[in-house]
Amino acid sequence: MEKIEELKVENLSFSFGFKEILKNINFKLNKGEVVSIVGPSGGGKTTLLHLCAKLLTLEDGKIRNSFNSSSFAFQEARLLPWKNVIDNIALGLRAKNIKKENANDLAKNIALKFGLQIDDFEKFPKDLSGGMKQRVSFARALVLNPSVLFLDEPFSALDIGLKKELQSLLIEEINTNKLSILFITHDLMEAIKLSDEILVLKAEPVGHIVKSFKIDTPREKRDDSFVYEQTAKLLSDEYIINTFELGFK
Ligand SMILES: Nc1ncnc2c1ncn2[C@@H]1O[C@H](COP(=O)(O)OP(=O)(O)OP(=O)(O)O)[C@@H](O)[C@H]1O
Ligand SMILES: [Mg+2]
Repeated sequence: MEKIEELKVENLSFSFGFKEILKNINFKLNKGEVVSIVGPSGGGKTTLLHLCAKLLTLEDGKIRNSFNSSSFAFQEARLLPWKNVIDNIALGLRAKNIKKENANDLAKNIALKFGLQIDDFEKFPKDLSGGMKQRVSFARALVLNPSVLFLDEPFSALDIGLKKELQSLLIEEINTNKLSILFITHDLMEAIKLSDEILVLKAEPVGHIVKSFKIDTPREKRDDSFVYEQTAKLLSDEYIINTFELGFK
């Protein structure tokens, strides 16, 4: 029997010292699906993602991750300053003992797909723009061909055109390789374009999920007008208004 790959979070709570950050979080990510987490700054989104990726130790509740492999793109790029673009992207491949030549070829390929130029390959992080660093960091995660990808606002420093290109690239990976993604974003339109489920995380009094929206329309049918329409709908939802404090006083 084939193993079921999934990530299941049950009754998760977490504190930093005496400060409660997350309370009673429950959700599930299935193979080939995208779950995104939206919510205001400081609400515990990054903390939740780090817990799911085992970058923080769980205190309370359960996380069951049966995906075969995972990789992570951090909110800040975290590139190694002494390595150039290609060596940074190839880092995880080299750690998996893939030969330098092969690793570099894979890294160059994905770098081009991510809109980096051949002229950029030898550059060091200090000579890259914020958006370029973000692309390198995202490429470094995707080049590993993981079953599940943890993404912490990977598109925040990108212009609209590039954002769209990389979103399409992700959709292609979901369709062809059944990539699964747990995704943090501030951008409701992005969440609507990519997700099967959107979880709304409210910060007050402690980070908790106030609502989940499921989107059944196939991703390839989500054109601009679908995304605008759904965004308008979400923005008039009382939970979204309340969570993001959008109400006019
Ligand atoms: N290592 C840490 N030690 C103590 N407190 C922390 C630590 N990391 C985060 N926090 C606190 O936990 C809370 C949630 O932070 P987190 O980074 O998870 O929020 P976020 O929702 O990702 O915010 P943003 O949208 O701004 O990225 C914040 O109050 C933050 O100050
Ligand atoms: Mg964050």
